Amino acid sequence: GAEDAQYVASLIRTTPDFPKPGIHFRDFTPIMTDARALRLMLVALERTLPVPADQIDLVAGLEARGFLMGPALAAHLGKGFVPVRKAGKLPPETLKQSYALEYGTASIEIETEAVRDGQRVLIVDDLIATGGTAAAAAKLVELAGGKVAGFSFVMELQGLDGRAQLGDYPVTALTEMPA
Ligand code: PRP
Ligand code: MG
Repeated sequence: GAEDAQYVASLIRTTPDFPKPGIHFRDFTPIMTDARALRLMLVALERTLPVPADQIDLVAGLEARGFLMGPALAAHLGKGFVPVRKAGKLPPETLKQSYALEYGTASIEIETEAVRDGQRVLIVDDLIATGGTAAAAAKLVELAGGKVAGFSFVMELQGLDGRAQLGDYPVTALTEMPA
């Protein structure tokens, strides 16, 4: 329960001033390395799903760090996995959505055929900061004909109001950390 979630969160490693001065890099990969923590993280994500598991058809993970935990969670839940990739990596047909970075914009893509009409998609990633990446992924799921079931994150960075970008969709995160 709570102790397990605390143990999992305690493994998140912070590197100050990476990749740029003033940025705290929040790295959840030590959870992935620790067999017990990996299992506990999946159980915690399952327990805190934004909607019941039987209302989810697919899990979509966001390149790159959502590819580390997304397929593991999908398999744990008995669901399929859909990759949402950085633009330019997937062959046609794809749908593309841009989102704001601190300076400039970036784009992500999904394969048009990856989601069937009406499928309910849980969007997962390691963390939500400004919410721009997750909001773009939600648009892609909808453009592909799916429905966004909700969002699951390992971490939520505080003070950036990332959830505000995600409208009325239900959102859960295992732990909150200062940005
Ligand atoms: C990081 C993180 C999230 C995103 C959150 O990914 O993994 O995907 O930023 O930021 P936002 O809420 O402000 O959009 P990033 O694109 O930095 O790199 P990655 O390829 O290592 O996942
Ligand atoms: Mg990412």
